[in-house]
Amino acid sequence: SGGMRQRVMIAMVIAANPRLLIADEPTTALDVTVQAQIMALLAELRAETQMSMIFITHDIGLVAGIADKVMVMQSGVAVEQGALDQVIDHPQHAYTKHLLSAVPHFTHGAAVRGDGQRVTAKPAIVEVEDLVIRFPAARGLFARSAGAVHAVDGVDFDLRPGETLAIVGESGSGKSTTARAILGLTPATRGRIEVRGQGHRPVQMVFQDPFASLNPRLDVESLLAEPAIAAGQRVNAKLRERMVTLLKRVGLPEDALTRYPHQFSGGQRQRLCIARALMLNPDVVVLDEAVSALDVSVQARVLELLIDLQREFGLAYLFISHDMAVVERIAHRIAVMYAGQLVEIGDARSVLAEPQHSYTRRLIAAVPAIDRRRQDFKVDNTQVPSLLKPRGYEPPPTRWREAGTDHRVRLEEQ
Ligand SMILES: Nc1ncnc2c1ncn2[C@@H]1O[C@H](COP(=O)(O)OP(=O)(O)O)[C@@H](O)[C@H]1O
Ligand SMILES: [Mg+2]
Repeated sequence: SGGMRQRVMIAMVIAANPRLLIADEPTTALDVTVQAQIMALLAELRAETQMSMIFITHDIGLVAGIADKVMVMQSGVAVEQGALDQVIDHPQHAYTKHLLSAVPHFTHGAAVRGDGQRVTAKPAIVEVEDLVIRFPAARGLFARSAGAVHAVDGVDFDLRPGETLAIVGESGSGKSTTARAILGLTPATRGRIEVRGQGHRPVQMVFQDPFASLNPRLDVESLLAEPAIAAGQRVNAKLRERMVTLLKRVGLPEDALTRYPHQFSGGQRQRLCIARALMLNPDVVVLDEAVSALDVSVQARVLELLIDLQREFGLAYLFISHDMAVVERIAHRIAVMYAGQLVEIGDARSVLAEPQHSYTRRLIAAVPAIDRRRQDFKVDNTQVPSLLKPRGYEPPPTRWREAGTDHRVRLEEQ
């Protein structure tokens, strides 16, 4: 896995017995729980070997966890440096202040949205019941016995109009597969998915990589017309008017219509993808890691836009992310997935402030936060259970426990 590769890299470097270790974004591509393991390893090695470390990162939460001294760089210039507490508690330079204020930091549920009255009287717009998705196993361990990858295993949830349900969990936990099933892109092995929308295409999707999901040879007008044409609509004046309105609404200039994707920044391209998803007036938008590839301050502005659009159009969001700080800003409710199973679901503040399942606790404990200084990262080698199961395997029935109003937790085997 990525975490193991990174540990091997560190072992190779340490074998040379260095006095100084330079770690350049060593955990950026990793899940937070794996990141916490790498951080634990680095902290342990530093204590044992007395080596010095230059730790390069864009994540202030990580800085708070590991650094003694901090240097802030902007466009090639060191704009501020000093002791950790000094820089974080009394930033002097405007850019440091910006980094500390504009960027979402994880605060254990203190920053969740206040507009989340769940309207349980209205029927759910998406209902998922006992969803099971299995893929035939490729060559390998169970080749002859034909086992299966249990990617999604008995997942249950519903989504109400106007609300955001965030799905969190590490990579490979089944988040995207669940989303693809709702969009009808992956067939369910078992279970029921019901979508009750007004129009023909009630569910639209925004993906992580805004460049890969936009055909580079099409101009913006064609890109925006694509979903409408696919739904059998004609490109007429009314449709063009909607394009212009939506472009303006997501903060892009009207003359963007004649331009091509490469002429936009990453954040602008993601705004374009959002506008495109809204062309057919959907009821539900599935956002799969939609802000994960964006620069942190751009990310904050796109989140604000999404919240505004949700209120204006009454959209329901299924917001998939591995980033707890981002999820805290946008979710009304949170579903936690672990190894293909839903382990905890409920009100966002409740799940973040009082996580109940052991995995949710580990996940939240691993999130870097600026209020956790010089964190005592501990090496914990808990292995994620394999999704590869032999033929005929059926998981034991799931039992749940209520942990409050709108908060339930899967019972764990002892
Ligand atoms: N088409 C497929 N064929 C076989 N295995 C798949 C397929 N799609 C996903 N998987 C497997 O299902 C598991 C869950 O994947 P995914 O839903 O993409 O996780 P996440 O989005 O949480 O990172 C992974 O082990 C992945 O390798
Ligand atoms: Mg995914």
